[in-house]
Amino acid sequence: MNTIVQTDFGDPTQVLVPADLPLPEPGPGQVRVRVFAATVNTPDWLCTLGQPYLLRPMYGLFGPRAPVRGTDFAGEVDALGLGVTDLAVGDAVLGSTGGFPFARSAPGAFRTHTVAPVDRLARKPPGLDWDHAAAAVMSGVVALQALRDVAPVTPGRRVLIVGASGAIGTFAVPLAKSMGAHVTGVCSAGNVDMVRGLGADAVIDRGATDWTTVDEGWDVILDNVMAAPVAAARRRLRAGGVLIPNSVGPHPWWGPLPWLLAKATAGDALRSVDHAPTRANLDAVVAALGDGRTRCVMDGVWPLTRAAEAVARKASHRGRGSVGVRIDA
Ligand SMILES: NC(=O)c1ccc[n+]([C@@H]2O[C@H](COP(=O)([O-])OP(=O)(O)OC[C@H]3O[C@@H](n4cnc5c(N)ncnc54)[C@H](OP(=O)(O)O)[C@@H]3O)[C@@H](O)[C@H]2O)c1
Repeated sequence: MNTIVQTDFGDPTQVLVPADLPLPEPGPGQVRVRVFAATVNTPDWLCTLGQPYLLRPMYGLFGPRAPVRGTDFAGEVDALGLGVTDLAVGDAVLGSTGGFPFARSAPGAFRTHTVAPVDRLARKPPGLDWDHAAAAVMSGVVALQALRDVAPVTPGRRVLIVGASGAIGTFAVPLAKSMGAHVTGVCSAGNVDMVRGLGADAVIDRGATDWTTVDEGWDVILDNVMAAPVAAARRRLRAGGVLIPNSVGPHPWWGPLPWLLAKATAGDALRSVDHAPTRANLDAVVAALGDGRTRCVMDGVWPLTRAAEAVARKASHRGRGSVGVRIDA
């Protein structure tokens, strides 16, 4: 078997099964990559479960339109498409096959070989291992875009990161610190020490304290969970502050609809992140990993044959850092 395919919507361990597919051929401006590591991200578990149900027609009405999950990978260039001149067979790269898995042609990354456009690839330095490189593609880039471009964070600003122990949060906490912010993380009790170890100045144990009710304010709130109502979150903003709602939220039917509606009337106080895994953004995250401005925490790594368990782990919302899938390197 060389691929994990999704046969239906539902329990990952039931609908994600091994299969043999022909190797994908790189189109013009694309390369084929022999994948050594992939990462499970939110779009992967959402599309596997078919949630939020409001979006189901976009995934495919009677089954997944694109059968292979995964967008982020690290591996070696294996074949060049027409017009590719700046990469060579054997180059070590990290990158993304694309965004949300709506397109029938989305190749997926839970497979031994995938294809990707060269502008969504960056070179992987030898000191960065395959698992960490793959994990940086969505989680690292979203954290970077949120803090550098969307907020943007400047020295001395007070930054709150909700979901600080998750894949994006663990990249975001050290990154915000490196930008000179005072950083508060929100996570469950078992993860408080880890988040403090990532450099947070303060940590709120979400089981003991509802962060929306504390008598404090923040200039930037990066909410990777969106379990709190938008109005309550906005009350914790200082004057001129920015709330970055960065989650589909907990509702299996409506997903992000509540904050999308709130965004229509909130003006500049609500700003979302549009994930852009460009070469420049990938290079920036790799550089930040290299000089210690950010960190990549791995929750665990599952072999390709057990990718379904990795997706189930991600869907459990219990992951500490990034959930990886390894394809024998
Ligand atoms: N803008 C984009 O393009 C983009 C791209 C990718 C992902 N995202 C969004 O980013 C969000 C975070 O992604 P991720 O990969 O970091 O997720 P994740 O790894 O699953 O992390 C989420 C964290 O939230 C915490 N959590 C779980 N349930 C909670 C609850 N009820 N209340 C408060 N905290 C809870 C958990 O930590 P504790 O148990 O320690 O609290 C968990 O570690 C996703 O919801 C996704 O929609 C956006």
